[in-house]
Amino acid sequence: MTSKDFLKAALVAVSATVMVAGCAKKEDPAPVKVTYAKDIKAVLVASCAPCHVAGGTNPNKWDDYTTAKNKIATILDRVQRMPGQTGFMPRNGTAQLPAATIALLKQWQTDGLLEN
Ligand code: HEC
Repeated sequence: MTSKDFLKAALVAVSATVMVAGCAKKEDPAPVKVTYAKDIKAVLVASCAPCHVAGGTNPNKWDDYTTAKNKIATILDRVQRMPGQTGFMPRNGTAQLPAATIALLKQWQTDGLLEN
């Protein structure tokens, strides 16, 4: 091997290493899943009190994981209706929940309605 060949081989080896390292770096960490305890409970309590929490007038308590989980389809239906439309939630509200909040509720469903 001439010294020129050796240099070429070394360069190829170095750039291959750099490429592999570069790819490994780009990989995203596993996405964090939405959970009831971490993300959902506080949002539902803040948005749906005083009616849907312990002591509230409505029998569906969203501060209870199992109740919220079992009713997620209905919750998503109601919060996507228009203010003023029959069944719109939050009841008596004048605006829909923020789009980011509705998206979070949908993501909770997609992620498997995890508690923790
Ligand atoms: C001012 C009180 C009040 C607030 C605030 C309120 N609700 Fe309600 N909700 C009610 C009442 C009363 C009913 C029963 C009448 C009906 O079904 O529309 C109800 C019914 C529901 C139902 C239907 C349950 C079923 O079993 O059919 C869902 C789902 C619901 N609410 C979700 C929500 C969500 C989510 C929020 C917060 C974003 C919210 N509500 C805020 C009073 C409220």
